Amino acid sequence: MSSATGQSTQGSQDDVPSAYPPPPEFAENAVAKAGLYDEAEQDRLAYWAKEARRLQWDTDFTDTLDWTDAPFAKWFVGGKLNVAANCVDRHVDAGNGDRVAIHWVGEPGDTRDITYSDLLTEVSQAANYFTSLGLVAGDRVAVYMPMVPEAIVTILACARLGLPHSVVFAGFSAGALRSRVDDAEAKLVVTTDGQFRRGQPAPLKEAVDSALGTGDDAAKSVEKVLVVRRTGHDPDLNWVDGRDVWWHETVANASDTHAYEAFDAEHPLFLLYTSGTTGKPKGILHTSGGYLTQVSSTFHNVFDHRPESDVFWCGADIGWVTGHSYLVYGPLSNGATEIIYEGTPNSPNEHRHFEIIEKYRVTTYYIAPTLIRTFMKWGREIPDAHDLSSLRLLGSVGEPINPEAWRWYREVLGANSAPIVDTWWQTETGGMMVSPLPGVTATKPGSAMKPLPGISAKIVDDDANEVAQGEQGYLVIDKPWPAMLRGIWRDNDRYKETYWSRFAAQGWYFAGDGARYDSDGALWVLGRIDDVMNISGHRISTSEVESALVNHHGVAEAAVIGAADETTGQGIVAFVILRGSTVDTGDDLIKELKDQVSKDISPIAKPREIYVVPELPKTRSGKIMRRLLKDVAEGRELGDTSTLVDPTVFENIRKKK
Ligand code: PRX
Repeated sequence: MSSATGQSTQGSQDDVPSAYPPPPEFAENAVAKAGLYDEAEQDRLAYWAKEARRLQWDTDFTDTLDWTDAPFAKWFVGGKLNVAANCVDRHVDAGNGDRVAIHWVGEPGDTRDITYSDLLTEVSQAANYFTSLGLVAGDRVAVYMPMVPEAIVTILACARLGLPHSVVFAGFSAGALRSRVDDAEAKLVVTTDGQFRRGQPAPLKEAVDSALGTGDDAAKSVEKVLVVRRTGHDPDLNWVDGRDVWWHETVANASDTHAYEAFDAEHPLFLLYTSGTTGKPKGILHTSGGYLTQVSSTFHNVFDHRPESDVFWCGADIGWVTGHSYLVYGPLSNGATEIIYEGTPNSPNEHRHFEIIEKYRVTTYYIAPTLIRTFMKWGREIPDAHDLSSLRLLGSVGEPINPEAWRWYREVLGANSAPIVDTWWQTETGGMMVSPLPGVTATKPGSAMKPLPGISAKIVDDDANEVAQGEQGYLVIDKPWPAMLRGIWRDNDRYKETYWSRFAAQGWYFAGDGARYDSDGALWVLGRIDDVMNISGHRISTSEVESALVNHHGVAEAAVIGAADETTGQGIVAFVILRGSTVDTGDDLIKELKDQVSKDISPIAKPREIYVVPELPKTRSGKIMRRLLKDVAEGRELGDTSTLVDPTVFENIRKKK
């Protein structure tokens, strides 16, 4: 159970406080008060039923939870709602149509302010067009788009029609897109001609064309590809007649009124593929009522949200769960005003984020620790050159935040007073699970503190006994929660095996993370204990990278580990054995291998280092001992090598390193 946090923690330095209570004024006016914990403790289901009723239900639910078919949950049984109407129509109906929903900032500097009325118009148009294509509730739509407003419109139009969306991060390769399109049998793919990255237009539709193939190799399920013109960089854009259509020639001309239908609380809302411990990504399934209840409630409470005055900014991409829950559904269901920024933080220069915060008077800022550490590297003079006084609450997500980065974040961006909410959750949990309440909790740098009201978690040992304070154990969720995944797309066995088999007797969900309580009872998440890496807050499995490497003709075997990295949390380090001696082992080969991974998966999965080694450390049963490779990569003394077939392999590996 190692992590980038270094696990020192507990405010060990004498001159800095170990815990930071909320400023008194913040605490006094907080949206979420301490009473929420007691309320949820007394009756967890009543608490969630009350939170669910913050939403608009067309038919009220009769039961809060049906857990008789565990681990397949049904929340808000009998209830019907429309998720998109909750995110859009009801704010217009309440007289807030003129409120800006999205301040969109394009990378080249173009901007759009989209009100809730505008959003209703655009979502209705897209819904009408999707319907005209013959799509009916239950059909899947793949979304492969950069951070343009049409991506949000597409997601909401899918939700409005009950079409489960499967958003694929636009940084993923054609191959990754194809396997996700096939697995979900998507009928429609929505994309853009290109995207702006670091000031340059880069093609995107090209990847869709290559993913979907032609002739015998064509993706069978796909009927249409809907293309938003974003960059206009390619006048000779490849066009498949009959399959490809432009957004501006179709959606933009569709009727702008659309009557929504209410769907069952358990109607599938989306699939989101995420890396597991095997090479095949899992299609995590989320449904409507429970998911929206939890993301909406946690957005409101954890971000102390005030729709009239706050400007929220979540820096995540819509390709990840954070983008789904706290860039689309959480904020919009609360009638928030938010920023959506298309590009990279250093385009055209490192001032970009701070200029946006200053210009729009952002109040609440939610990013991954990797970005905080990048800001630290760039130097505080950059944020210091801007008026960041509007920021009143800061959030962190995606990976353990090291105390140093936490303190820097609070001091430099939060003017030494803004509370920080370090939120632990996962694609599978749908919404936040462990986090401070900003007006209640005295926070400790690096700790996610405690489960949110209505959430029940434990840290246990191999025998399911709770560990003593200070000891590490497995983080488990011991009671169902509204936004929990409802399964893995078309693979119930894998769902049970992956999440519910470790503590099957107890009926607990095992999250894959290690954690511990400190002597004050604060919860510290220590990172993954399985073969999943966390690179800049992005989840990548070791075996996915290994299979990409062995796809190269020269590689016989590969072992991949995540080694501690100062900026990205973990960096990918690969050890490869080559096929025979005919392969040239020079720098060209290393570059080729890195490119291979980049092409097969995504540039974010590119190994930081690759070592050609003569052998890999294996147990007698043939399992590669990644733990030992990690020791080598991080320059540590080797752990226990007694189970190795041949302990001398390390001498050979070390010589190569
Ligand atoms: O290891 C934990 C880490 O990210 C994993 C979940 O990754 P993903 O499904 O991609 O979702 C990321 C965004 C919610 C977890 O198993 N993780 C996430 N948030 C934290 C974290 N580790 C420590 N502290 C966090 N706040």
